[in-house]
Amino acid sequence: MKFRNCWHDPATTIRMTPFALPSDYARVKRVHSFQELITTRFADGVNALCWERALSGDFGEVVNQLGAIEGIVTLDEALLQSLSVSKTGRLAVEQLLADYRLLKDNDLEPVLNCIQDYPHDEEPGPVVTDVFSFHADSATVEADTFLCTYHGAPSEGLRNEEALRRVNIPETRAQLLKLFGGDDDDAFREYLKENCYDLHYAAVPSARPFSFGIGNLWRIATDYPGCPVPPCVHRAPATVHGASPRLLLIS
Ligand SMILES: [Fe+2]
Repeated sequence: MKFRNCWHDPATTIRMTPFALPSDYARVKRVHSFQELITTRFADGVNALCWERALSGDFGEVVNQLGAIEGIVTLDEALLQSLSVSKTGRLAVEQLLADYRLLKDNDLEPVLNCIQDYPHDEEPGPVVTDVFSFHADSATVEADTFLCTYHGAPSEGLRNEEALRRVNIPETRAQLLKLFGGDDDDAFREYLKENCYDLHYAAVPSARPFSFGIGNLWRIATDYPGCPVPPCVHRAPATVHGASPRLLLIS
């Protein structure tokens, strides 16, 4: 299986901002356990499952203990266990490891990342293809993306009905065709695929992106051959200079 474009307050039970799933959007379904999260099949247009959680533990302390980082640092158990943290920091470490093992035990490939910044497209063309752009994850076989933001800015979702595939925007397609230097044929479509241009979306002007929130474990549909639902369109939040890094579990 190969994914494309996935290269993604001390008392932390208190949420800084209230989290609410979009109430008018039937593609997101709330589940109430990990078992339900992992066994529910995507169908009837539902392409995102959210296991809403209010986690205990000080995840900010874990991030602080990692010190200054650049880019992305992958956290393993040895590193997490070696951190000198308080009791609430320890709770956070245990939660991170518990989630990691839960996914691992279900034949997934979780990664815990502390992210100060993701790579940006160095020479953006007609379609930006970094994770700050609304996109669908893609796989060659059936696979879903799992993700949870524990600290920092959460991931964001975009309703499919408010998303325009960038390669289908006439002006953008014309620019891509020029770059390709050929006709709008199978070879061009392959070119769009190879460069991940076909996975990126523009939000319509009236779009209402929604937050994935903090502590919630999400399972979202990817773009793979035969997927019964449209992929879940999402993005990483913009990096804010000086902001605390994100702590993210992704599989
Ligand atoms: Fe993604």
